[in-house]
Amino acid sequence: MSDSPSSSPPAPSADFAPSGGSTSLSPPPPNGGPYQGKTHFTYEELTDITEGFSTQNILGEGGFGFVYKGKLNDGKLVAVKQLKVGSRQGDREFKAEVEIISRVHHRHLVSLVGYCISDSERLLIYEYVPNQTLEHHLHGKGRPVLEWAKRVRIAIGSAKGLAYLHEDCHPKIIHRDIKSANILLDNEFEVQVADFGLAKLNDTTQTHVSTRVMGTFGYLAPEYAQSGQLTDRSDVFSFGVVLLELITGRKPVDQYHQPASLVEWVNT
Ligand SMILES: Nc1ncnc2c1ncn2[C@@H]1O[C@H](COP(=O)(O)OP(=O)(O)OP(=O)(O)O)[C@@H](O)[C@H]1O
Ligand SMILES: [Mg+2]
Repeated sequence: MSDSPSSSPPAPSADFAPSGGSTSLSPPPPNGGPYQGKTHFTYEELTDITEGFSTQNILGEGGFGFVYKGKLNDGKLVAVKQLKVGSRQGDREFKAEVEIISRVHHRHLVSLVGYCISDSERLLIYEYVPNQTLEHHLHGKGRPVLEWAKRVRIAIGSAKGLAYLHEDCHPKIIHRDIKSANILLDNEFEVQVADFGLAKLNDTTQTHVSTRVMGTFGYLAPEYAQSGQLTDRSDVFSFGVVLLELITGRKPVDQYHQPASLVEWVNT
């Protein structure tokens, strides 16, 4: 894996800042602890910052495994995503995710702080986003109804993050798993879109035919689900489902409704 900042970073733009790779790390702070400013972490360091991957620090669990809250020595909070071991598929996504995300910085995209490769362990360290996911605020039990103004702000923030990936990164980045669970929120309900683990650089303007269909049921563009034909439009379809979710408050798939599919429901 190359850490060189010169290897195909996205095109510069006002919001883009290439990450410091291993060749451009800041020197360690005099007394800020051993973790500040670095991108590669050892498993022991991550064990340390997550208090031994304590269950109390679990933020959630996704398709790849558990996500833990951690605290760097400079006080910065992070989310440590520990991939399930023994999954070769997971390793591939991990490497893609590291290479892509580490070069992309935008106010509506979750920044990758670092990574860890240690024997069979694969972990990603992200900036911690404090106010849960859009899915939680829309569908979580006992949540107050999400105000309309916040929904609009969330729609706009997500659109800006996605547009940056599609229009300002070169080669363009297709997210592949746009969904309300991957839309993280800060305390002001500003969006940070998470998870480029399924993303793939798309360096041509031609349609890319992927060998595997990935993404989340209920959000998949029909042409992508059927043929694996992947373009930035598949993300736009998924984003459209998120918009429907924001507007209606309904889940993309809800077995207690007829029809269960939100997309089908709005078409009837
Ligand atoms: N950077 C982060 N800051 C704060 N919490 C996070 C962060 N990343 C993930 N989380 C929490 O961890 C949970 C699990 O995330 P994860 O990405 O593993 O699963 P998912 O988004 O539900 O599914 P998928 O594996 O398809 O992305 C999220 O729902 C969120 O609550
Ligand atoms: Mg996720």
